[in-house]
Amino acid sequence: MPKFKTALVTGGAGFIGSHVVDALIKRHIKVFVIDDLSTGKKANLNPNATFYKASILDARMPGLVAKLKPDVVFHLAAQIDVRKSVENPAGDAEVNVVGTVRLMDAAAKAGVKKFIFTSSGGAMYSDAVRPPYSEKVVADPISPYGIAKRSGEMYLAFEQSVRKMPYVVLRLANVYGPRQSLSGGYAGVISKFSQTMIMGKPCVITGTGKQTRDYVYVGDVVRAQMLAMEKSATGIFHVGTGVETSVLALFKKINKLTGAGQKESFIPAFAGEVMRSALDSSKAAKELGWKAETKLDDGLAKTVEWFKQNAARK
Ligand SMILES: NC(=O)c1ccc[n+]([C@@H]2O[C@H](COP(=O)([O-])OP(=O)(O)OC[C@H]3O[C@@H](n4cnc5c(N)ncnc54)[C@H](O)[C@@H]3O)[C@@H](O)[C@H]2O)c1
Repeated sequence: MPKFKTALVTGGAGFIGSHVVDALIKRHIKVFVIDDLSTGKKANLNPNATFYKASILDARMPGLVAKLKPDVVFHLAAQIDVRKSVENPAGDAEVNVVGTVRLMDAAAKAGVKKFIFTSSGGAMYSDAVRPPYSEKVVADPISPYGIAKRSGEMYLAFEQSVRKMPYVVLRLANVYGPRQSLSGGYAGVISKFSQTMIMGKPCVITGTGKQTRDYVYVGDVVRAQMLAMEKSATGIFHVGTGVETSVLALFKKINKLTGAGQKESFIPAFAGEVMRSALDSSKAAKELGWKAETKLDDGLAKTVEWFKQNAARK
């Protein structure tokens, strides 16, 4: 008898969340989705999931969680744009701190057996440390988005220690792949470049283009989410490749894959973003049995192909 028969996925109409939903349904788990469709899309939704169009801030949300009593919660709903969080920290905190705390509270009261929170590795550390860094490095987020994610992690540790709700925090590197929307900071640089180049529109690089990120394919991230549910391990885990890739290198690779033949053009960098980032995921390898398997070139080819088929999507 499987331990988890029902799952609630917040943000299940979004990029990563919708792939998580698909993986759960493949495992014959009954899935409920809460999403306000602010950046998510109905087209991403698996038809076999039960969908509730609602915000996690909605007054109805705790009652709904109490009624559904899911065995496991995957919390992915969030305001995901680092730049928006810099412009409007209170708006970001409303969804990413208050919404998250309300959901955790409702889940603990409903007796949820495991709470899996999608946090950010890229936004958790400052430029003071040299990548790739492990979870042992002290979190030092420099943006309101990162501060909110860290707060969520700390509230979750409270829920586990005081209310006995086991948790896993997955601090993701920069995720890319099919269905990624065009909104949201560096997180979307691969989808932005792919879509813009396929549409034949000019593509700009922010800053010098020498800033690096750790790009992890969405299929690998979904595998980490499933292992987080299935394994008994709890705590914080990095989910990345450990490899740094510059924005300039991505521009060149996607330029070639799409055949766009664009010249590089630059706009000034934004505040609240680090120059370098990459995650050491040895802890996830040891305790969850997870390792990134998709090579960047293979993942990029799959992503560009998907954008070619879905070029008209916003
Ligand atoms: N994409 C990345 O590189 C990356 C990296 C690290 C962490 N994350 C985290 O992963 C999660 C999913 O991100 P994504 O890239 O799939 O983005 P996304 O925008 O596609 O997904 C977020 C989903 O949450 C929904 N949502 C937003 N606010 C909501 C609210 N108040 N109530 C209910 N639903 C709401 C959106 O409609 C959307 O479907 C987020 O928590 C994000 O912070 C993403």
